[in-house]
Amino acid sequence: MSRTLLNFLLDTLLLGTFAGLSIVALIVRFVFPPGTQADGWTLWGSGYDAWVAAWFNLFALFALLVLFHVMLHWSWVCGVVGQRLTKRLGRTVRIDEANQTVYGVGLLVLLFLLAGLVIGAATMAIEEPSAETSRAATPSTTRPNG
Ligand code: HEM
Repeated sequence: MSRTLLNFLLDTLLLGTFAGLSIVALIVRFVFPPGTQADGWTLWGSGYDAWVAAWFNLFALFALLVLFHVMLHWSWVCGVVGQRLTKRLGRTVRIDEANQTVYGVGLLVLLFLLAGLVIGAATMAIEEPSAETSRAATPSTTRPNG
């Protein structure tokens, strides 16, 4: 398969996945009631949680496709960075293929590290509902004598 055809197929998949992601996000955000009140609501046979799971799966696919897409254009990105640095520093800066790989992998590691830090901080910071809040949120029909 030629590089152009590969780019074309990947770009088409990106567009389709992004469109799907956007539509599902709009449905979850505007068609369903807020998550805390969506229990029991269904759309085309699937409940709120299933729609959120579908959104996440599409997001994971999109992230993977973006990764491949940027990998295929990585030498273009490094070329642009090299050109800018050449202008700014007043000497020729050329990022060779070996260094392109090093910077690409380095950037990826950095992004994963950053995401891990934020998710770790969120995991430690999340708070369970207090007994009072959960009592107030429980529908009266499920309460004794309610
Ligand atoms: C809906 C998502 C996206 C679509 C449909 C899309 C589509 C395209 C198309 C049609 C091209 C030119 C043809 C090609 O060489 O493949 C392109 C180039 C490029 N895209 Fe994307 N893209 C998307 C998302 C992204 C994202 C998220 C990034 C970066 C994080 C990105 C980075 C680039 C780069 C660096 C180029 C090369 C620029 C050039 O050659 O002038 N794209 N994209």
